[in-house]
Amino acid sequence: MKLFAPNPGWTVQADVIVIGSGVAGLTTALNLRAANLSVLLVTKAKIDEGSTKWAQGGIAAALGPGDSPDQHKSDTLIAGAGLCDVDAVNILVTQGPEAVRKLIARGAVFDKSSSGEIDLTREGGHHRNRILHAGGDATGAEVSRALLAAVHEDHGIEVIEHALVIDALQDASGHVCGVSVHVIGEGSRDGVGQALARAVVIATGGLGQVYSQTTNPSVSTGDGVAMALRAGAAVADVEFIQFHPTVLWRDNPQGQEGQQPLISEAVRGEGALLLNHKGERFMVGKHELAELAPRDIVSKEIFNQMQSSNVPHVWLDATHVHDFPERFPTIFQSCNENGIDPRVQLIPVAPASHYSSGGVLVDLVGRTTVPGLYACGETACTGAHGANRLASNSLLEGLVFGAAIAEDISGNLPPQGIPVRRSEETLLIDPAVRLSLQLTMTEGAGVLRSEKSLLSTLKQLELLGTRRSTTPCIEAWEVSNLYLLAVAIVRSALERKESRGSHWRSDFPDTSDLWQKRIIQKFGIDGTWATSEIAVKK
Ligand code: FAD
Ligand code: SIN
Repeated sequence: MKLFAPNPGWTVQADVIVIGSGVAGLTTALNLRAANLSVLLVTKAKIDEGSTKWAQGGIAAALGPGDSPDQHKSDTLIAGAGLCDVDAVNILVTQGPEAVRKLIARGAVFDKSSSGEIDLTREGGHHRNRILHAGGDATGAEVSRALLAAVHEDHGIEVIEHALVIDALQDASGHVCGVSVHVIGEGSRDGVGQALARAVVIATGGLGQVYSQTTNPSVSTGDGVAMALRAGAAVADVEFIQFHPTVLWRDNPQGQEGQQPLISEAVRGEGALLLNHKGERFMVGKHELAELAPRDIVSKEIFNQMQSSNVPHVWLDATHVHDFPERFPTIFQSCNENGIDPRVQLIPVAPASHYSSGGVLVDLVGRTTVPGLYACGETACTGAHGANRLASNSLLEGLVFGAAIAEDISGNLPPQGIPVRRSEETLLIDPAVRLSLQLTMTEGAGVLRSEKSLLSTLKQLELLGTRRSTTPCIEAWEVSNLYLLAVAIVRSALERKESRGSHWRSDFPDTSDLWQKRIIQKFGIDGTWATSEIAVKK
């Protein structure tokens, strides 16, 4: 199945296409250049759009005195709640420090302490101070700035902005040999075209926009995961949507849709406390790390507090955090814009969708189950995050696996394939259903799920899926992707009859050894779904 779109009217070609200009796509592109390959980097909005530039807390790497990759590994495995692929974690934590040094060599500047060392802070689930940050809470903006500067300097990387990739192109054997892409451009490259290449890397980021409240920007519609599904690739662990515990709650119904301001875990790392509506701390006694427990645990407790007191948020008390405006300038500004001075007032916070721990199933060098197609960053599922990602491991994953993918591609490039049409089936959903889809997912497949809520959500999705469109456009392609992903998430969440990590079922509240396995979904070219399970690599 493909998205309904006009036939390509123009063609462009490179050795490798990288889709997306976040930390994953930029790192992959730069590393591909070391092998002297020509790279076409396509990105659906302006080049700095995406989650990367919004990242606040930082990048986790075992760089501090007394820290080690083994300790980082232990924290990652604990947060991942028994579902991490241990080989992927080993690569992440052992190659992490070197990947961060390379980023610094590429020009990224991290905050330093008064002694001139890189200042390492703490976030949820970490037993050590190991988070590098920049500009206080503007880490992602600095990572993005440094990588973009390096990409702009490299004339072997051609960048096309406002270029939304629609679908993968495959040759007669199913090998991916390019993509169809819609460009809002000028001259010959305008409208739908085809970009041909010998390998394609999807680095399209997360899918937070499946939900009505998310920390993710509007471009995070999971296009790459949906595209991979349509190309026949397996996706894994998609039921594990991470809800960030402390997202600013705004007392304004309109303001509660779409991207919401994040209040970084690093604020709790600097001593902020969570309080319920009686003004009491509620994380003490729930976990040895209290407010700094892994974020699935904190989100659940916040949700419990909200439900038991019938209130829409809890409070974050950051009044004791030293130098708040200097340490957290971005958060200080977004609080101020919403009428809150965190130096003297409590911050209302509630969980919102933040990160997809699952995604396109890849091996340790980023290969998907479809030849020629790679995935990197939040789009991919390396297995490093298991059932719940450890804070600040995502930027790191983009850095580490972007390099591994580039190395694998460099040694394994086949000749250019010729695209063929593999199926006449097409999909295009009416863009008007976007908000209903997001609300339905938040209601029935959010922080807390049950068979009843998930079946009702699936029914709603089926109804929304009948609302077809015949007018191809960006909004319709995006909502069609959201629809496919919503179905995949709900199907996996229904399948997993236990609670684990960020998957919490009221009807199966316990973790079960029987479910220490990963759920895989595939979408056939005829539009049918297939579910299977694989053992966790220990
Ligand atoms: P992104 O940075 O999201 O980039 C995706 C790119 O793909 C974008 O350029 C987008 O425009 C493009 N794209 C999407 N669809 C298409 C398409 N169809 N065609 C062409 N291009 C497309 N992680 C940490 O490790 N530390 C943190 O402190 C941290 N803080 C965060 C704070 C916030 C508010 C958010 C939202 C996330 C945070 N995360 C953090 C998570 C982390 O930022 C992301 O997981 C990571 O940046 C993802 O990088 P990426 O390159 O995979 O995707
Ligand atoms: C945060 O700063 O709280 C977000 C960190 C992350 O998502 O890793």
